[in-house]
Amino acid sequence: MRPVVVPVALGPRSYDILIGAGLLGEAGARLRALSGQARAAIVTDSDVAERHLARLSASLEASGIRPVPVVVPAGEGSKSFAMLERVIEELLALAPERRDCLVALGGGVVGDLAGLAAALVKRGMGFIQVPTTLLAMVDSSVGGKTAINAAAGKNLVGVFHQPRAVWIDPALLDTLPDRQMRAGMAEVVKYGLISDPAFFAWCEANGPQVLARVPRAVAHAVEVSCRAKAAIVGADETEQAGIRALLNLGHTFGHALEAETGFSDRLLHGEAVAIGMALAFRFSARRGHCPAADAKRVEAVLAALGLPHALPPLAAGRLVAHMAHDKKKAGGEVPFVLVRGIGEAFLARDVALCEVEAFLREEAELSQRRTAA
Ligand code: GLY
Repeated sequence: MRPVVVPVALGPRSYDILIGAGLLGEAGARLRALSGQARAAIVTDSDVAERHLARLSASLEASGIRPVPVVVPAGEGSKSFAMLERVIEELLALAPERRDCLVALGGGVVGDLAGLAAALVKRGMGFIQVPTTLLAMVDSSVGGKTAINAAAGKNLVGVFHQPRAVWIDPALLDTLPDRQMRAGMAEVVKYGLISDPAFFAWCEANGPQVLARVPRAVAHAVEVSCRAKAAIVGADETEQAGIRALLNLGHTFGHALEAETGFSDRLLHGEAVAIGMALAFRFSARRGHCPAADAKRVEAVLAALGLPHALPPLAAGRLVAHMAHDKKKAGGEVPFVLVRGIGEAFLARDVALCEVEAFLREEAELSQRRTAA
């Protein structure tokens, strides 16, 4: 079957997102058509390598391209200066040309690390995203954000460097752990909450089918999400126009939660975003922007998808301290994505952190009462 094609229109940096079960097996032929190179580095992690590297390598070999795996340890710890240096040295050992493409095979960590390495080698070589998690398929593989983490915080060292293509094979999700599927669903639901109430309603009705990997449901969720992301990136590639920033719905709260839990398995990124989106709705309702009933609907869909929506027992003051270091801060203000309702996100620049702290204290009390009851 022909893949679905979602164009990302960025002038000279335009590319296509292809979505289709079985695409991994076509990677060699597609790479040959795109660049004609004789060797290709495949940057991946130790977990993904076990599941998918052999099939990708075989596909490249069948098209006369020698695969050279660059395998990093699985986990957020690989988004480090040390690992970036290692990946770059291994790439340089292949004496690549700028028009050559490396292949990033993995989730968000691999995509961010490999994309940044590609941006730096020879001042920018090509790369192709082959995402293997739901979260990477619907969000991080599209749009050219690349980064590693620094002592001062997550994703603080990076550049925008667009891939030459994104090849999404939804069949790869069949081996993804359930918890990762649920975490990815948070980012799927996010597109409905930002600007597409009909898609939110679709998620309410069909989200569990995506989690069960029903192929039609998975394909629809991935396609609608990619179309939404492509439109947003096409309109505001480098997050200057207040449009791409809407993708941060739930992320300012979420990043603070991740930072406070040490960017660990205690809270996956998608889980933190789920709580963050629920908080953004409740905060918006508290400020009178949004009906409380919409906040309840968001909680209900997250609960149905096995995602958290209540604030964990963490100190409000510490969470707000993390927000004060937000990299999107401008003129001393932290911009928050708030909502007027489902599908009506907007960027608020008038939110004082003391107001957020008071709200989080109330949320913490509520959580404690719920736990005690
Ligand atoms: N993940 C948010 C963005 O790509 O802008």
